[in-house]
Amino acid sequence: GRTYFSGIQPTGVPHLGNYLGALQNWVKLQRQAAPDDELIFSVVGWHALTLPQDRKALFEAQKDILAILLAIGIDPLRCILFYQNHNSDHLELAWLLNCITPTGKLRRMTTWKARLADSRNANDESEVDESLLNVGLFTYPVLQAADILVYKATHVPVGEDQQQHIELCRDLADIFNRQLKDETDNVPLFPLPRQLFTPSKRILSLRDPSSKMSKSTPDVKSRILLTDTPEEIRDKIRSAVTDSIQGITYDPVNRPGTSNLLTILAACEEADPAEVARRYSGKHHGHLKADVTDAVVEMLRRPRAELLRLREDPGYLADVGREGAEKAKMRSRPTMQIVRERLGLL
Ligand code: TYM
Repeated sequence: GRTYFSGIQPTGVPHLGNYLGALQNWVKLQRQAAPDDELIFSVVGWHALTLPQDRKALFEAQKDILAILLAIGIDPLRCILFYQNHNSDHLELAWLLNCITPTGKLRRMTTWKARLADSRNANDESEVDESLLNVGLFTYPVLQAADILVYKATHVPVGEDQQQHIELCRDLADIFNRQLKDETDNVPLFPLPRQLFTPSKRILSLRDPSSKMSKSTPDVKSRILLTDTPEEIRDKIRSAVTDSIQGITYDPVNRPGTSNLLTILAACEEADPAEVARRYSGKHHGHLKADVTDAVVEMLRRPRAELLRLREDPGYLADVGREGAEKAKMRSRPTMQIVRERLGLL
């Protein structure tokens, strides 16, 4: 059987990019999985700590993300749903992987390079203010690889921005497999995990279609949150940046803003964006925006109502978290035992 693993950081309410790029696919995979497939989904608090977090906000966000995952349809009886920091096997494996990871590989990570660029000295571009960069940020992708490998996951449903991290994970699994090989093995210790993308693997900012929709952009109108009211959704889509070309066509290179709206609409309908575009030949942006609004409002209606209900049930959320942690630890323990032995640790 397959083992699916994915994670999400507890840094505020997820946006439409998180949902259409990853979370919605988790629910779909849960529906389609074979009985002997395993699905493991994690709220990754340790990753969030690579950037400064407010203690209270982090505490609340962790519970809220769990509630959101339940609200969109993740079934804790079918999946292992847990908080990363409840299973310290991730950290132990991350350390062991750190010891086989060439620093050069981490320096090539685009996420790291973006952080470096952010901390360039404003007066002297060649000077990086390293005091703003912590080691956790540098080795973040190694912890991510550990999350995946500790469960011997085979498939990782994520958005496109995670591709390089999954490739690194595969590389590390391969290095480790060679190092830990035993004559009695007929299969490698770790499967090489594959990323799973959706057609909406990269949802763009509504205000700046040259960048992806992100949690950290200051302009709140650049993203739709899963908790937005229908009025907020309407307002944000109305002010979405498109282009001044007549008519509607799907052309991601020349018309990124318009194509982004078509991608969103197609994802809501589980259809093909180019096909959806054909329905709008002869129509204009106003028609498209009205329909995108209706589709997004409708798609988020039930999850939003379910979230409001679950937020009032902290006892249930705590039970789910506790049971998830137990199942996660049971799953990773045998793998860690083998890894320790193979490395020669007592
Ligand atoms: P995070 O929390 O930033 O995002 C969660 C998921 O949302 C996807 N995503 C997007 N997809 C499409 N368009 C967008 N604009 C967009 N923005 C975000 C992300 O690709 C991700 O799938 N490092 C991970 C968390 C993580 C993880 C793991 C994932 C930790 N360990 C192990 C998979 C396996 C992250 O920061 O996701």
